[in-house]
Amino acid sequence: MSLNVETVLDVRHWTDTLFSFVATRDTGFRFVNGQFTMIGLEVNGKPLLRAYSMASSSYEENLEFFSIKVDNGPLTSRLKHIKPGEKLLVGRKPTGTLIHSNLLPGETLYLLSTGTGLAPFLSVIKDPETYERFNKVVLVHGCRFIAELAYQEFITQTLPQDEFIGEQVRQQLIYYPMVTREEFRNRGRITDGLASNKLTSDIGLPPLDRERDRVMICGSPAMLADLVTMLKDRNFVEGSGSEPGHYVIEKAFVER
Ligand code: A2P
Repeated sequence: MSLNVETVLDVRHWTDTLFSFVATRDTGFRFVNGQFTMIGLEVNGKPLLRAYSMASSSYEENLEFFSIKVDNGPLTSRLKHIKPGEKLLVGRKPTGTLIHSNLLPGETLYLLSTGTGLAPFLSVIKDPETYERFNKVVLVHGCRFIAELAYQEFITQTLPQDEFIGEQVRQQLIYYPMVTREEFRNRGRITDGLASNKLTSDIGLPPLDRERDRVMICGSPAMLADLVTMLKDRNFVEGSGSEPGHYVIEKAFVER
């Protein structure tokens, strides 16, 4: 695999199990917002790589990634110690399904994520095309605990003030964080919030409907399976590069 060697610029530890980091970006490295690539470290003289979604947007100068720390995970047990100035390997062939061209036109775009499944949607909510294609963009992030709702301040404070995209964000982006295992204003699983229509009614929108809504999903395999069942029951059809549809899915990469 052809790899760029980048330099880590910044690292942020959100919790004992979540961290994010920023690295330089080769000027030739192009991607579509929502895609992932292989990244990693050289271990015993060989590249040790895993798939990571870009949390940064394609117009940003640097790359950003959001990761869990897996005990004894071959890569993350090393990556979690990474420091500014150290090297990061970045694969030159980004790919992925969570991209606009895989979806039919629609009114509202739902970005449904759990855990580090948030990462590709950080890229998508920074993308002006997102706000050109949809009237409303609903970012849902489900976690077990409040402390795991990473990037809240970025989503609710920083991005709305952004010189380039702030106005669109203020008018069109709705952020709906959810927590399952402690008291929180939106308590419960995304699946339950959608099935009961509480989620959509809380944000003043009608129940999910394939005539107007498009959905991108990134989370655990169980969450993906349950949401896909729910969407299929509502006659949503999965989109792909050859045929755009009503929803697209990607597994949040967790076996690290
Ligand atoms: P719960 O706490 O009820 O398991 P995880 O850390 O296990 O990946 O979970 C992240 C979030 O996703 C948690 O809030 C978890 O809820 C939720 N979750 C787990 N499985 C599903 C599922 N099948 N459908 C929807 N949400 C799920």
